[in-house]
Amino acid sequence: IQTFLCPLDQRRGVPSPGEVILKHLEPFRLSLEKLKEVSTRLRKDMIRGLGKHTHHRAAVKMLPTFVRATPDGTEKGDFLALDLGGTNFRVLHVRVMEEEQKMVKMDSQLCAIPQEIMLGTGEQLFDHIAACLSEFLDSQNLKGQTLPMGFTFSFPCEQKEIDKSILIRWTKGFNCSGVEGEDVVKLLKEAIHRRGDYDISSVAMVNDTVGTMMSCGYRDQTCEIGMIIGTGTNACYMEEMKNVKRVEGEDGQMCINTEWGGFGDDGSLEDILTEFDKVVDRTSINPGVHTFEKMISGMYLGEIVRLVLMKLTEKKLLFKGEVSEALRTKETFETKFISMIEDGLENAKKILTELGLTWDLVDARVVRLVCETISSRSARLCAAALATIVDRIRANRGLPHLKTTVGVDGTVYKKHPKMQLSMHFLAPDCKIKFLVSEDGSGKGAAMVTAVAQRLALQSRLLEESDGEEDEEEKVRS
Ligand code: GLC
Repeated sequence: IQTFLCPLDQRRGVPSPGEVILKHLEPFRLSLEKLKEVSTRLRKDMIRGLGKHTHHRAAVKMLPTFVRATPDGTEKGDFLALDLGGTNFRVLHVRVMEEEQKMVKMDSQLCAIPQEIMLGTGEQLFDHIAACLSEFLDSQNLKGQTLPMGFTFSFPCEQKEIDKSILIRWTKGFNCSGVEGEDVVKLLKEAIHRRGDYDISSVAMVNDTVGTMMSCGYRDQTCEIGMIIGTGTNACYMEEMKNVKRVEGEDGQMCINTEWGGFGDDGSLEDILTEFDKVVDRTSINPGVHTFEKMISGMYLGEIVRLVLMKLTEKKLLFKGEVSEALRTKETFETKFISMIEDGLENAKKILTELGLTWDLVDARVVRLVCETISSRSARLCAAALATIVDRIRANRGLPHLKTTVGVDGTVYKKHPKMQLSMHFLAPDCKIKFLVSEDGSGKGAAMVTAVAQRLALQSRLLEESDGEEDEEEKVRS
């Protein structure tokens, strides 16, 4: 940076513009020490979230998912999967084939969720979903059948059972009235009954992180963590039941949806929040909610970059101090521009021109530096959080070293896989393989349903064989 931005003007002893720019970016550069501190704080918050008496005031919710096992490769059958989490809703017909250990998407349909619906009433949202599902069932000739259904609903839910899931609060761009505090399965069923042209039987509710873990888990049975870095960010992992204090039972494991996006909502990340993060939060539709997510995920990264560019321009460090109308407008700098600009200066020049800015080569380079800084911080924070989880799994099992697989999805991860680099330093005792999930959150919902069916079958067989043993016992006595 010192070579392309002017060197220190030693004559006058004043810092060069390059140094001033670096000073503005300094708060985004988190040292390894700071990341370790963040990881320690998250570790404590995770314990608080799992505790019976501390959960209610925990920022990291650590929600039980009632998913008790990952796939073992023997699952099979036909399933329907619904996927709602971003600006689209998808319906999928998935076939799980035991012989080839493959999940095949037979067909799928995408329905856009318009902004009015994202911010409308719950009834409108679920009517829209039910209509889309109806259209799909018609097109597939599936209305007469009642296939088991998995519903990926990528928002924080207090799950009571696998088919009872209460929305705690909306995140990302959604804010439909009358849904928070309600059972999502009930709202879906009511919408379907309002139509009356088809019916559904069982529904398994799944968070997208869980779907991702489960779909990757079918390919690689060592996968026990699911992570999303897309519009939002979150992770789930397999926790020992004895630590899940809010659910009865000590044996086995349960998948926990951490909702790590909420980390910092109690002020614990105050020292690393920049003035730009605070503006992003203040001007969002849910101020004070999902602080960590707002520093990391696709919904917010572009806006952070825009605010930094605005500041540097106002300080006359960019574009000769001239701000364009587009740059002044909220959310005009899309998150996808960040990876495009990082890919090459030619892209940067094109994007800056489209944003109505008059730039020179140094401006383009500074913009690229800003993009790299913001995306690196996102990657490093995610790495710190993931390191906390893998190290917890290692400690839970009393192992000196852990080798594990993380199923991951989300465009921000796919475009910026650099978080892998930091993992080595943040979790030195763990060897982590990243498995990128294709279509994970949709197919994973089918897999959750398939695993639940396998477990139900196994326990029925077990009961039957116990019954037979009892009979033999009676005969013997
Ligand atoms: C948000 C949601 C969470 C989801 C994540 C990724 O953080 O609260 O449930 O997993 O986005 O889509």
